[in-house]
Amino acid sequence: MRSALCQDHPRKDIFEKIAPHYDLLLGILTFGNYAKFLRKAVKVLGPKRDEKILDLCSGTGRVASWILQVVGEEGEVTGMDITQSMIDVAKERYGKSGNLIFLKKDVTVCRVGRMACRLKSGGGNSAVRPRSLREG
Ligand SMILES: C[S@@+](CC[C@H](N)C(=O)[O-])C[C@H]1O[C@@H](n2cnc3c(N)ncnc32)[C@H](O)[C@@H]1O
Repeated sequence: MRSALCQDHPRKDIFEKIAPHYDLLLGILTFGNYAKFLRKAVKVLGPKRDEKILDLCSGTGRVASWILQVVGEEGEVTGMDITQSMIDVAKERYGKSGNLIFLKKDVTVCRVGRMACRLKSGGGNSAVRPRSLREG
């Protein structure tokens, strides 16, 4: 069964439409608990100074911007999201820093060298430390 949050779900357009209001909407719907959950997730990830972090399904870029505060100027955070309007919002809000970049990507498609594979995704919150990152 497909997750309702996964981008190839029939309701995928919802992310395109709500991107500018996504954080506020989630805050209201969860009585402020969503931001707390995300803060906790960053704490559990435990980013370290100078690390390179990949934020999959980065949405509005809020979490990526928090992680950037920890990894600092020598670190790097890359946010990936399949929804163009989410990428636009993220770039507008947090795109000024050279070491925080946002790419429009389907994160279920993974390319390593010549090999390609598909990953299962719930379209949720995932941040990882990549060994290498290629455009593709
Ligand atoms: C539950 S939100 C998470 C957003 C962000 N991590 C946050 O917590 O605010 C889901 C996000 O996943 C993105 N998404 C869903 N399926 C995706 C896929 N296959 N590849 C990349 N992004 C995807 C959507 O566009 C949406 O921005």
